[in-house]
Amino acid sequence: MNPPRTDARRHHDPEVRGFASDNYAGAHPEVLAALALANGGHQVAYGEDAYTENLQQVIRSHFGPTAEAFPVFNGTGANVVALQAVTDRWGAVICAESAHINVDEGGAPERVGGIKLLTVPTPDGKLTPELIDREAYGWDDEHRAMPQVVSIAQSTELGTVYTPDEIRAICEHAHAHGMKVHVDGSRLANAAATLDVPLRTFTNAVGVDLLSLGGTKNGALFGEAVVVLDPDGIKHMKHLRKLSMQLASKMRFVSVQLEALLARDLWLRNARHANEMAQRLAEGVRAVHGVEILYPVQSNAVFARLPHGVSERLQKRFRFYFWDEAAGDVRWMCAYDTTEDDVDRFVAALKEEMAR
Ligand SMILES: Cc1ncc(COP(=O)(O)O)c(C=O)c1O
Repeated sequence: MNPPRTDARRHHDPEVRGFASDNYAGAHPEVLAALALANGGHQVAYGEDAYTENLQQVIRSHFGPTAEAFPVFNGTGANVVALQAVTDRWGAVICAESAHINVDEGGAPERVGGIKLLTVPTPDGKLTPELIDREAYGWDDEHRAMPQVVSIAQSTELGTVYTPDEIRAICEHAHAHGMKVHVDGSRLANAAATLDVPLRTFTNAVGVDLLSLGGTKNGALFGEAVVVLDPDGIKHMKHLRKLSMQLASKMRFVSVQLEALLARDLWLRNARHANEMAQRLAEGVRAVHGVEILYPVQSNAVFARLPHGVSERLQKRFRFYFWDEAAGDVRWMCAYDTTEDDVDRFVAALKEEMAR
């Protein structure tokens, strides 16, 4: 069948990919096919549609019978909505200093969610019970925002991955202090691929209360979901999305994308591939003298330190970002559509620029 006619024109080269972000990738063709399936006819708006209803079954197949998904537009929105659901007006969230909610969300948790963040420096983006204790105190002190939630990212902003036991220890510690645990799972699929376990093994099974489940970096056009794993003590989710401008009227188009990813194994295929490309990249980079890999490569990111001038020259050939420009640290991200050839050409270019 011929594709439908359109007056739009292509404005980019679909063969050009870089290492700047998994958000630079397009949508997976299977997701686009699912969107076309969900098109046509009228469906009830704001989440009362057949696709959102079906998504609940898909989510329960991953996270068990008490799980409920609340689709949203983006990851910042998911985090802001989720954290509001588990904090009072006087509440605070303990997170890593490097957390996306702290450094990359434009202050939305504070300004939109009205939430105080209590941040802790970490060596590798991961919190531990000991690190949490630096901020977990003063529940009776009216001069201090009350720690009510611990938020961790899986995988972390630095590309590292918590083991299920590490998350269990965090949950037990947080719960013992009456705090809930939120996981920013913008790259939850990448963590599952690395750990090679089902999603529930390092979420519900170890005590996580709610999470932000990523779709965009995993091959969706856009769309994520807050997943409440255990509704006990989690209030007002129904109202929080609209209040936070995250309630999609045509929600079927968010839900069907998540269904396309999660109903079978597309989420895992995509995440595994992105992770494998990061491993290939790390292997290639390790063979280049003078380039240091900064953190264990456990998902789809490689962080490296190299001479500033080399990075600048390389950036003229491939897109990527400095992570800490003063230190010469860069971040290279792989996506579900990164090819072996992309990686090999990048490593060859790196070698050339290092030798100049
Ligand atoms: C760890 C993490 N959380 C959340 C997000 C979601 O952000 P956005 O609001 O851009 O979808 C990102 C995106 O880069 C991320 O890396």
